[in-house]
Amino acid sequence: MNVQLRLKRRPTGRVSADDFDRVEAPRGGAGAGEVLVRVLYLSIDPTNRVWMADVPQYMPPVGIGDVMRGAGLGEVVESNVPGFSAGDLVFGLVGWQQFAVMKPGGPFPLTKVPRNTSLPPHTFLGVCGPSGVTAYYGMLDICKPQAGETAVVTGAAGSVGSIAGQLAKFQGARAVGIAGGPEKCRVLVEEFGYDAAVDYKAQDWRQQLKAAVPKGVDVLFENVGGPIMHAVFGRMNVGGRIALCGLINAYNGEGTTQGDFGALLGRRLHVHGFNIIDYEKRWAAATADLVRWVLEGKLRRRDTIVEGLERAPDALNMLFDGANVGKLVVRVAENA
Ligand SMILES: NC(=O)c1ccc[n+]([C@@H]2O[C@H](COP(=O)([O-])OP(=O)(O)OC[C@H]3O[C@@H](n4cnc5c(N)ncnc54)[C@H](OP(=O)(O)O)[C@@H]3O)[C@@H](O)[C@H]2O)c1
Repeated sequence: MNVQLRLKRRPTGRVSADDFDRVEAPRGGAGAGEVLVRVLYLSIDPTNRVWMADVPQYMPPVGIGDVMRGAGLGEVVESNVPGFSAGDLVFGLVGWQQFAVMKPGGPFPLTKVPRNTSLPPHTFLGVCGPSGVTAYYGMLDICKPQAGETAVVTGAAGSVGSIAGQLAKFQGARAVGIAGGPEKCRVLVEEFGYDAAVDYKAQDWRQQLKAAVPKGVDVLFENVGGPIMHAVFGRMNVGGRIALCGLINAYNGEGTTQGDFGALLGRRLHVHGFNIIDYEKRWAAATADLVRWVLEGKLRRRDTIVEGLERAPDALNMLFDGANVGKLVVRVAENA
């Protein structure tokens, strides 16, 4: 049998287990042009929450009654697709279930993941997967920090943010991370190598930001939006670059997606919204660099692992509570 979490209704605010039906369905098999995958890990991403909402977005919202859409990592059990064999580790949109019947193509396409590295498989959901590739192209291709410049990253202790700051440092920039709480700020500086950290949950966070960027901000890697983004806009230097990666403060329907166009105009800022699905053809090139840097010990990572498919809704809320450091995954089954 195949245990699945199907979307029962559209959540309001935080998700709850009651927003899903837990269904035991027949496992099925691989038909022509399909592979059957045993799911090992789910990638828990802020975009999961967006996919549940009936709002305009980059993919259709998940239908009521459908298996919840989610990226993940699994092991091929049966394959009728050339290039994929039983035993391969694969990444793709496996969904919140134990077994997935998948076809190649589409956004987040079925992709083989190397088995022959010393890295744990779930690394290919985080630093060597979508999060790392997002940080890589957002920081290196869009922000292009230069030596001596100041780069600010919001959501800095999360999966994308923890990597983005390190990549800014690789370019010789001063990296300033914004995250919630003193412990996360300690991790930013001591583990991820940020030059300074701003605790946005502290009363004096605006003063902390001012002190952390004495020469203003040249580059902003934006993951959050809302008042934090506005405050950084107010510190940007003329001609600064912004990679608009995410606006998590608004994904639960509470915060705002609005920006300060006065600051954008006055400081002649370059804002580049981007989505990693547009970088599919360059995915492998980024992954090769990211894997090498991790294996060399140059790029540091942290992962937060939650056990059990049924805990996926709780895990998603952890992103909004800031209860993760680095990549958040749900382990569905033991590694093959
Ligand atoms: N454009 C793309 O292709 C792309 C791809 C992947 C991800 N993203 C975006 O990148 C961002 C980060 O994603 P991720 O997967 O790396 O998640 P993550 O950063 O690992 O987790 C989300 C973090 O956001 C912070 N947060 C949550 N609500 C907040 C709020 N209201 N105000 C300030 N901080 C808040 C929390 O940290 P604190 O404890 O610091 O609050 C939490 O740990 C998201 O906006 C996501 O949508 C975009």
